[in-house]
Amino acid sequence: MIKPWFLLPAKLAHDLAPIGLKLASAVCKSKQPSYAPFRWKGIQFQNPIGIAGGVDKNAEMIESFCKLGAGFIEIGTVTPKPQSPNPGVILKRDIPHRALWNKMGFPSKGVDFVKRQLQKQKKRDIPLFINIGKNRTTDNSKAHEDYIKCMQELSSWASAFVINISSPNTKGLRELLMPQNLEAFLQPIINENKNNPRPLLLKLSPDISNKELEQVLSISCKLGIEGFILTNTTQGERENLNFPEEGGVSGAPLAKKSLELLNYAHNYLKENQLSALLISTGGILSAADVKTRLNAGANLVQVYSALIFEGPLFFQKTLKTLNSDAVN
Ligand SMILES: Cc1cc2nc3c(=O)[nH]c(=O)nc-3n(C[C@H](O)[C@H](O)[C@H](O)COP(=O)(O)O)c2cc1C
Repeated sequence: MIKPWFLLPAKLAHDLAPIGLKLASAVCKSKQPSYAPFRWKGIQFQNPIGIAGGVDKNAEMIESFCKLGAGFIEIGTVTPKPQSPNPGVILKRDIPHRALWNKMGFPSKGVDFVKRQLQKQKKRDIPLFINIGKNRTTDNSKAHEDYIKCMQELSSWASAFVINISSPNTKGLRELLMPQNLEAFLQPIINENKNNPRPLLLKLSPDISNKELEQVLSISCKLGIEGFILTNTTQGERENLNFPEEGGVSGAPLAKKSLELLNYAHNYLKENQLSALLISTGGILSAADVKTRLNAGANLVQVYSALIFEGPLFFQKTLKTLNSDAVN
């Protein structure tokens, strides 16, 4: 398939994505493709492949992704106040290695804009996850207030909330994920959620040790977190890539790490009789990758890089392959 967006600089292609997606979605059938339908907490997923956080930061592409066949949609990361991206170059692509690098730092039009976007949407059957974060000027000691503000404003539209403390591009954010800080950060959010309960998921960093992962899973499940997204972009995996030191890498170089974390988390939860939804993301670029993650214990998967390297028809193409493999 010809990919005209490869001819454009990465950031320009990114900025034009909403238009490209709209055009691509116009050729798709409106019926959502089904594969391995799945139900969790009353939420029905027609297929297990969703879009990952960061693709539709401001809820501007929901209709396109429905038509393109996504099984569920995650919008955000949404921050309470609008904020611009980090200065300088924020996005790079390495096409031969199918790798992305970004240093965006939660560019967001803010929670009020996203709320207005959602108010305009017609009601759909597709699950909508809302990924929430903090403004970069909010101190970690008050970070929970930013997450609570987003939950209060957006809960009417959320099938579930994704608490994002795993981006490498907001200074100090990942410190909240450290076992010694996690409970104090999560507890007020869990308390707030009791007023208008929605499943809460935590998005994890791939750059943690197995010991830290165990502690994060154990503390979070004890407090009432009901699912995990593994993983966000990595600060490692730079080999053979001409990417800067800072920022996060995703796509093919992240696949091995992401799968290892999934395997470890799945086994740990099972051995400790803990139950949680597991969503795998990181380097899922083909139908075979989707199958590998589902076989490793993921309930659902999400893609970002695949939309760049395989194109917006990824959902249709992959689900067709998965369905024909299931028949043969
Ligand atoms: C340009 C870009 C922006 C991203 N922005 C966000 C974000 O705002 N929130 C978030 O939780 N993850 C964000 N991510 C991480 C993705 O959701 C995903 O976890 C990661 O890219 C791994 O998946 P992939 O290998 O399919 O790209 C971003 C990734 C990229 C490449």
